[in-house]
Parts: sequence; C-alpha cells; structure tokens
Amino acid sequence: MEYLVLDPATGPNATHTNDHIARFLEDHLDQFGDKKEDILKCLAYAFDQRRGGFVVLAVEDGAILGAVVVNLTGMDGYIPENILVYIAVDRNQRGRGLGKGLMGKAIEKAKGSIALHVEPDNPAKKLYEALGFTNKYLEMRLLR
Ligand SMILES: CC(C)(COP(=O)(O)OP(=O)(O)OC[C@H]1O[C@@H](n2cnc3c(N)ncnc32)[C@H](O)[C@@H]1OP(=O)(O)O)[C@@H](O)C(=O)NCCC(=O)NCCS
Repeated sequence: MEYLVLDPATGPNATHTNDHIARFLEDHLDQFGDKKEDILKCLAYAFDQRRGGFVVLAVEDGAILGAVVVNLTGMDGYIPENILVYIAVDRNQRGRGLGKGLMGKAIEKAKGSIALHVEPDNPAKKLYEALGFTNKYLEMRLLR
C-alpha cells in the first residue's frame, strides 16, 4: 500500500482520474456523502492553480483504498487556510489504520490550520479528536 499526494503542481493522476476518485468517494462516504458532480467540483478546485488544495490517495494493486480531499480557502488567521472536505476509506478496509494514515499525510502536507465538518454522531469524530482537532464553534448555515 502506498500514499499518493496530488496537487496543482503534479496535476491529476492519469490512472486515478478525478472521475475515478469521485466515484470512489460517492460510493464510500456512506450517508456523509455528496453527489458526484459536487465531489468533482471540489477536485477541480483542488487542482486549480489559482485556488488550490490537494488529494491524498491510499492505493494498493492499482485500486483506491482511501482518499482525502483538501481545498485551500485563500485566507489565514481569521479563517483556517485549509478545509478538509472529504475523507473516506473503502468500507471493506476500515479499522486497519488507513484513515489515520490519510489524515497524517494531509496534516503533514497542509500549511496552516485545517477546518472540517463532522456530524456529532459520526465515529470519525474520535479519529479527529485523537489527532488534536477540537470543536470550539457550533457551525451554522443559511442554506439557499
Ligand atoms: C472515518 C473513516 C475514514 C476512518 O477510516 P479507518 O481507516 O476505518 O480509520 P482507522 O482504522 O485509521 O482508525 C483510526 C481511529 O478512528 C477511530 N474510528 C474509526 N472508525 C471508528 C468506528 N467505526 N468506531 C469508533 N472509532 C472509530 C478510532 O478511534 C481509531 O483509532 P484507534 O486506531 O486508536 O482505534 C472511515 O470510517 C470512513 O470512510 N467512514 C465513512 C465516511 C466518513 O464518515 N467520512 C468522514 C466524514 S466527516
């Protein structure tokens, strides 16, 4: 198993295309997922030189076992520099440390603070807390 880090400098991967990554995430995000078209927008943003971000993939024998996608906000100080938008591990590969490994690579690669959203009842919250994430704020949205 290896971790691949993709960003605007490397460009998207010829084997693990944005479409392939989006299909993986749509499938394995479970009830925390988004539509494929929205996941593709997030990937396009990450690879856009003027916006930016990165993708970390856990890959074994040519198959994606896990993926994390981070977008840069373009801000710092008053708003974290990075938003971790998606993380998922293949549902048949969970519990063997891949989620922790992907988060570790993302934290290593990101410059500055990282924000993420997690539902209060998602077990992933324990993973984030173990890595030092805290929730000082209650997020509120005006949906339109
Ligand atoms: C969250 C997710 C990425 C974790 O991946 P994973 O490879 O199973 O995680 P790991 O094996 O690295 O586990 C790391 C830690 O996470 C916690 N954890 C992960 N899954 C857990 C579960 N189902 N119940 C309780 N704790 C869990 C544990 O604290 C574990 O720490 P430990 O190794 O000390 O026991 C994976 O469960 C997943 O893809 N879930 C569906 C998508 C999702 O919820 N994404 C996050 C949206 S915010």
